[in-house]
Amino acid sequence: LGRTIHHHESLPSTNEKAFRLAQDGAEHGVVVVAEQQTSGKGRRGRVWVSPSGLNLYFSAILRPELPPQRAPELTLVAAVALAEALRDAGADAAIKWPNDVHIDGRKVAGILTELSAEPERVHFVIVGVGVNLNSQVEHFPEELRDTATSLSLALGRQVQRAPFAAALWTRLEEWLDLYLETGFDAVRARWKAMSSTLGQDVLVRTDRQELRGRAEDIDPSGALLVRTAEGSLERVLAGDVEQLRP
Ligand code: BTN
Repeated sequence: LGRTIHHHESLPSTNEKAFRLAQDGAEHGVVVVAEQQTSGKGRRGRVWVSPSGLNLYFSAILRPELPPQRAPELTLVAAVALAEALRDAGADAAIKWPNDVHIDGRKVAGILTELSAEPERVHFVIVGVGVNLNSQVEHFPEELRDTATSLSLALGRQVQRAPFAAALWTRLEEWLDLYLETGFDAVRARWKAMSSTLGQDVLVRTDRQELRGRAEDIDPSGALLVRTAEGSLERVLAGDVEQLRP
């Protein structure tokens, strides 16, 4: 991963660029990096604030041999690699379901996975990762100041981007190879061990509903299992989780 790097000063979105490169035949492992993004994309239609010169924004092109319904597992593969790379850098990082990485309860990194597939076969997957490395409080828009952080804020020093990116891509490659060789179990176990969501009372918002309950587990495909007050076990494939204080 990252042996071929397309580096750009400014892009609307590295995910969009990587998607087009993949459509034009770019091979597995190609990475697109930008110094800044002018319309960085977050999950669920949100923006990813992407100022220049501070942080890491990249998208990796993957061509795994997987049925499309298993592609969401790749997001959890990336979350595990990301949390480990942040821990290796000295931060106490945890994963908030499905794929936000937090330090001290604040979001430091996010992942946006996009898929091109036929019913039976994945053409390619774009795994887009944004990591706040050196953003300081004043770089965050007002509405994010209570919920966002950076690795630099957590460590109290500047962070060099190139070594962090290299370490992260190595981790990502290791977990990806293990996943493709042995399946989802090891990733799931590691994800659970680094999760801040499981065991918590949560409010989950999906496109269709709001659900309150205890986050009990993730199932073999990565869906969140929530035990409601009425005792039923609900399976959530995609949504936002708010961790409620007891
Ligand atoms: C989220 O938590 O909402 C996901 C954020 C993903 C942001 C990254 S930055 C690099 C890549 N390009 C994009 O436009 N988005 C992802």
